[in-house]
Amino acid sequence: MTIRLGLVGAGEFLPHFVAMFAAHPGVGALYVADLVVERAETLVAEFGLAGAASNLDELLAIGVDAVAIFTPRHTHAVLALQAMQAGAHVYIAVPAAVALDELQAMTAAAARHRRVCMTGETSYYYPEIVFAREEFATGRWGQFIHADAQYVHDWATWGPHFRLTFGDDWQKYAAIPPMFYPTHSFSMPLSITGARVTHISAHGFVDRGADAGYGAGRNPWDNPFSNTVALARTSDGGTLRIGEFRRLGWFPLRNGREVMMPTFYASDACMESSMASTFLTGRQGVEGSLSYEHPGVTVDLGPWVDGPYFEHGSAQDHHIGLASAHHPARLPREYHGLANGHSGSHQYLIDDFIRACIEDALPPTHIWASAAWCAPGLVAHQSALQGGALLEVPDFGQPPDDWPRLTYPPRGVEPGRPRLPDLTAPAFPA
Ligand SMILES: NC(=O)c1ccc[n+]([C@@H]2O[C@H](COP(=O)([O-])OP(=O)(O)OC[C@H]3O[C@@H](n4cnc5c(N)ncnc54)[C@H](O)[C@@H]3O)[C@@H](O)[C@H]2O)c1
Repeated sequence: MTIRLGLVGAGEFLPHFVAMFAAHPGVGALYVADLVVERAETLVAEFGLAGAASNLDELLAIGVDAVAIFTPRHTHAVLALQAMQAGAHVYIAVPAAVALDELQAMTAAAARHRRVCMTGETSYYYPEIVFAREEFATGRWGQFIHADAQYVHDWATWGPHFRLTFGDDWQKYAAIPPMFYPTHSFSMPLSITGARVTHISAHGFVDRGADAGYGAGRNPWDNPFSNTVALARTSDGGTLRIGEFRRLGWFPLRNGREVMMPTFYASDACMESSMASTFLTGRQGVEGSLSYEHPGVTVDLGPWVDGPYFEHGSAQDHHIGLASAHHPARLPREYHGLANGHSGSHQYLIDDFIRACIEDALPPTHIWASAAWCAPGLVAHQSALQGGALLEVPDFGQPPDDWPRLTYPPRGVEPGRPRLPDLTAPAFPA
């Protein structure tokens, strides 16, 4: 069985995905729509696709089974709701939405129409997050205590992206509140623990730069902040410190990336990451040790992506390859040799979406999870506007019980895959 799929928004990001959509064995006819129809036509010609359209209405009139939305971040919810109401499954490049009522409407629509609605949350398939999620689930890491996560992306480097859609007005849209794009950060710790944020407090940096679009009347959200930091309480009793930085003199190292979880602390094991590498430490339960003879273990998980399982196919090194923490055997054979993206995540996200549509199964980054990764940021922005007030974060609940989850073939133990050693073994022989 194959589905007819429509891609919406042929800007900067979508071209990284077209080959993956086209090659997936579950995709039949593939269409592209963009308000600037020439952009859609260019992709149709380049990849030999079924046809171009100028908007979502036209795609839905063709009768596509599913759409994948790559339009600007504040437009996602309206398009996703329209698509679900028309009976189409929906993939959305993050974020899911920019308002709490949009999240409410999207979870309700997915349940009512029984349509797959998922975000392409790249952080979910970052290798160290895949690794931590699987290890944490064994229980050997103990109870979650605290995590720091951040997304640092100077808007000056986004300028060309925003200019494509918004022309000379681009700074107005680049000044979207940083906490309206919080999902890369929140999804890292929350997808490991399965918890949600219950309360949050935040402070923002009021950007008075005359050359930027921040401040009342200067952007559609009257947003004054270019950088915002939040402190959150999670439903499992832990804490998160989340940083969303959008205007500062920072650039990633070669092979590093802008999205990081510097710390993940649990009662029996901790993971620390820098831009280039990840270390895991575990306590072996012996009391009274001095630090220099601490009977713990430290595992160097190595660079983010130590592929290359797939050939390099992109100019940006961090947009290719797979790491040893990934599960390549679950991907379609057709993906071998195709360019990947964002530390190996793209192919997993697209495979999840197509399989979810065909199998009527829920992908892991479904809209209920995505709402839990998005809502804390939306509330954090309100908190920052209120001088750091502690605010409650609404709970968008869980998907319907009768909706099966996607399952994957067992991965087995792959050679070279890092693991935390046995923590129950004595540190020193008796
Ligand atoms: N790591 C990640 O997950 C990641 C990385 C980059 C971008 N993104 C997301 O991808 C999305 C697209 O980003 P981009 O950089 O390609 O944006 P872009 O501005 O370059 O492209 C957007 C395209 O959508 C088109 N468009 C706008 N409204 C439309 C509508 N109603 N119908 C049809 N077409 C429409 C525009 O004409 C433009 O071609 C954004 O939401 C962004 O948040 C996610």
